Amino acid sequence: MTLKVLGVESTAHTFGVSVVGFSGGKFEKPSPENTRVLSNIVDKYPSSAQGYIPRKLADHHSKSFKRLFANALEVAGVRSCELDAVAYSFGPGIGHCLHVGFVAAQSLSEFLEIPLIPVNHALAHVEITRFFCGACNPLVVYVSGGNSQIMALDAGRYRVFGETLDIGVGNLLDQVGRFLELDPPDALGVERLALKGTKLLPLPYSVKGMSFAFSGLLTALKKMRLETVEDKADACFSLQETAFSMLVEASERCLCHSRNSEVVLCGGNARSNRLKEMFSLMADEQGARFCVATHEFNGDNPGMIALTGLLMLRVGAVPAEKAPQQRIRIDSVKIGW
Ligand SMILES: Nc1ncnc2c1ncn2[C@@H]1O[C@H](COP(=O)(O)OP(=O)(O)OP(=O)(O)O)[C@@H](O)[C@H]1O
Ligand SMILES: [Mg+2]
Repeated sequence: MTLKVLGVESTAHTFGVSVVGFSGGKFEKPSPENTRVLSNIVDKYPSSAQGYIPRKLADHHSKSFKRLFANALEVAGVRSCELDAVAYSFGPGIGHCLHVGFVAAQSLSEFLEIPLIPVNHALAHVEITRFFCGACNPLVVYVSGGNSQIMALDAGRYRVFGETLDIGVGNLLDQVGRFLELDPPDALGVERLALKGTKLLPLPYSVKGMSFAFSGLLTALKKMRLETVEDKADACFSLQETAFSMLVEASERCLCHSRNSEVVLCGGNARSNRLKEMFSLMADEQGARFCVATHEFNGDNPGMIALTGLLMLRVGAVPAEKAPQQRIRIDSVKIGW
């Protein structure tokens, strides 16, 4: 391997360390043929009905770093002195969590005397999917707990054409999962129960141009009388069909304007089978290739941070500003690769 980059992910309840290796020549670009995720070690703070307390997440992360770091090196078969750079999640995310990842990465970078690369977390979700699917210039639909955005590359940046006007689609599904006390109490719980639903219940459908709003669905669902398992199953089915149709409609409208030949679905909710099915159908109808990563690289994972760090390092695009930022947006990053 000619280059080895360590990545630290720490934006929320998932904390992880990864090593990505690049074996191409001096003038070669990283590609799926010459680049491998050598390790992708993740530790999740367990979800609870009450949500998360940032201080507790930070405590968990700081106690886990040494173990995850050692494990990531061992699985990758790499010694710390062989690392060429350290990348970390710069934001957006929860301040307490970001800070732990930053301090760990900064200490390593100083100790090993190697570059420290701040990586935008949203960009990393996009780049790992784009990279391993071989997508050149896709329409990107980024769906996760905190974000739901439709974007495409234009003049060296991802421009956001449409996005949620309130909560992310993942946050909607997770809140419903907790409210209905599903197992697990999140989007996966909703997806599993939705398979048993048969009736499409009326729920607010809110698309405004290429943007959309989800909180009305949550309010409407909380007001329903859902007593039996059948009622809950119908509610989950209707919730998914309505929220996902909103995402597909807005994305299809955008695609009709932008005419990108690929559609990338990324972020934790790109794991949803029903969402993948709906996007794949829409892309097909529009003559675009549908791209989605494997499960491992859809949710928050350190591999995407290490990979994006590698891409930035190869083109010398390592920002001077290092302190993490909770609210940084994807369009603030200049894409030079
Ligand atoms: N197997 C699965 N099927 C469907 N949804 C899933 C699955 N696993 C996780 N999810 C959902 O993915 C979402 C989490 O996405 P992600 O891992 O990107 O974390 P996040 O902290 O919300 O990220 P971001 O900072 O990007 O907003 C949650 O809504 C979660 O319930
Ligand atoms: Mg994420």
